[in-house]
Amino acid sequence: MDTKPPQTSEQAPVCTCGAVKPKSNKAKKWLKYVVVILSLSAVYFITKKPSQRLTMTHEEWDIFIKDHPYEAPAADAFRSPCPFLNTFANHGILPRSGNATYDDYYRAMTIAGTTPSVTKSFLNSVFYAYKEINPSESIWSDLHKAPYVTFQHIGQHNILEHDISLTRLDAAQEPDFTIPNAERIQSIIDTADKSTSMVGEKQLSDFRRGKWNEAAARPRSTYHFGLFFQFTSAMECVLLLDYLGHDHQISVDHLESFTLKERIPDDWYPLEQPLTTMNLIKRTRSCFMSVRKSKA
Ligand code: HEM
Repeated sequence: MDTKPPQTSEQAPVCTCGAVKPKSNKAKKWLKYVVVILSLSAVYFITKKPSQRLTMTHEEWDIFIKDHPYEAPAADAFRSPCPFLNTFANHGILPRSGNATYDDYYRAMTIAGTTPSVTKSFLNSVFYAYKEINPSESIWSDLHKAPYVTFQHIGQHNILEHDISLTRLDAAQEPDFTIPNAERIQSIIDTADKSTSMVGEKQLSDFRRGKWNEAAARPRSTYHFGLFFQFTSAMECVLLLDYLGHDHQISVDHLESFTLKERIPDDWYPLEQPLTTMNLIKRTRSCFMSVRKSKA
């Protein structure tokens, strides 16, 4: 009886290579295709413009705004500490009542020129920030967003609304966040470049720094302007200069119309193309640093 193991030493290389090598080549080829397809789709999705265009051309805006005339808010309407939200509500682009849904905010912001991704990130944070915890519900309910956020909610102090604002007195001086302060707005207008009548980052930063210094001279309990609010106020500087204004500046007429009258100026247009995320980041950083560097 032959007990020797089968003589495979000569066959093995032929057999194994013959069976495995073409298979691994095939697998490598497929892997290459998959990587190429995935990379191309990634490039496509990153660079593709949103299928639905949300900004408007000047011509489209002219037609749109004719259907959205200014009306002063009704006595029972809510108003917020945000000049943009109030202005858009006074024109019925946001609900005139001040009871806006996530979709209403989304539409208004993207009309003004924020990108879909920036808008979603911002609104998701807002809807989480204003979620009130109900102690009788499960702890998991804490993880849900607020079902709605009215203009009145937005005014709750030290969630988004903060001290050292451009258009409102600090909460300790004027608890009604809906009232723009005419004197404060006039002081910003007075800083405008005399030849162009434009207000830019330096003027806003000097103004904010001046108000910050004044607040710091008061008793400590009467104001708060922590790091988070320094950051959000830098974003508001960009919102004012690049969305309500354009190219990082705003004319005194437009500033007064949006912030004091809360009315869209007749000769104003929203951005025709959204401000890129990179520009938003760069300009926010610049506004942030500008207040810290200000010698006002
Ligand atoms: C593109 C859209 C928007 C623009 C152009 C805009 C513009 C502005 C500006 C210029 C300010 C500064 C006012 C000041 O310092 O007195 C401001 C403040 C504020 N905005 Fe908006 N905003 C926008 C969207 C929103 C949205 C969607 C919300 C919330 C849902 C919001 C909530 C606020 C709040 C709470 C303040 C008050 C901050 C403070 O206390 O100074 N804004 N906004």
